[in-house]
Amino acid sequence: MTRLLPATDQGLRDAAALLRAGEQVAFPTETVYGLGADATNGAAVAGIYEAKGRPSFNPLIIHVADLDAAGRYARFDTRARQVAEAFWPGPLTLILPARKEAGLSSLALAGLETVGLRLPAHPLARALIRAADRPIAAPSANRSGHVSPTTAAHVMADLDGRIAAVVNGGPCPVGVESSILDLSTPAPRLLRPGGLSTEALEALLGPVERFEGAEIIAPGMMASHYAPNARVRLEATNLAPGEALLGFGPGMPEAALSLNLSPSGDLAEAAANLFAHLRALDEAGATGIAVAPIPPHGLGEAIRDRLARAAAEK
Ligand code: TXA
Ligand code: MG
Repeated sequence: MTRLLPATDQGLRDAAALLRAGEQVAFPTETVYGLGADATNGAAVAGIYEAKGRPSFNPLIIHVADLDAAGRYARFDTRARQVAEAFWPGPLTLILPARKEAGLSSLALAGLETVGLRLPAHPLARALIRAADRPIAAPSANRSGHVSPTTAAHVMADLDGRIAAVVNGGPCPVGVESSILDLSTPAPRLLRPGGLSTEALEALLGPVERFEGAEIIAPGMMASHYAPNARVRLEATNLAPGEALLGFGPGMPEAALSLNLSPSGDLAEAAANLFAHLRALDEAGATGIAVAPIPPHGLGEAIRDRLARAAAEK
């Protein structure tokens, strides 16, 4: 029922036509697959919540293909323009004052005065947004409560029969969601660590506050949001009987069921593998997953954030 579209000109034309007709279409970005709909069409946006089975209406990130489009939907001050020029296209979402007259569905913004904007770097995402000629609202293309999808097969496993199509663009190169930076307040705040390292942001902006109350203004950040079925145990240096191992780096203990995020200890590789490995261990029937320690710098911050959510009580 859900069409798997190839990453060809024809596939993108078909996907764009579906989006313009108000359908929901999943597509690859450099971070994770998004579940897109025309952000100016309230019924199309409502279809996203329905397909995901999201219990509440969270604001959705609006994806655009260039800076001109971004400027139509939000007010950029000098600081915001600087950040956008430094890091877009790329795995960074900016929260900015919304231009409420610009035609974005208020459901997509969940009624807020701000908008989360993202200019993805993935060539298929940008080509699709251009072809659709619309701003595209897109959360991660998973069922509510599941980990984000990093392949078209992950999307199908969660949403087959519930959405019109998936553009198959292979695995997502970054593998964790975008960093979310709130620039709508005088001091910049990091609402979610993600695919752009906080060090890179701080090199431009100076120290950036981690906003601990993120779930209040970013309701999608609830603790158990990324939960697999298995119990997840962090900072594991040994294995309990029957536990599967999610390793990182060389010299991991032997386990009957084990995957390594990066045998060489490379954090970018680990981020790219994170959600696929969690899904694979879950699908293999692991009841418990012991996770090796992950260093807290660079992409390690986003990986540790997602693992902490996966380990939280459901
Ligand atoms: O990498 C990503 O960001 C992926 C790809 C598809 O772009 N998208 C993604 O969307 O992760 P989602 O919906 O799973 O997470 C977006 C988060 C949610 O926690 C939402 O509450 C928050 O962004 N958000 C969106 N607009 C916001 C706003 N105006 N103020 C505060 N938080 C906002
Ligand atoms: Mg999500």
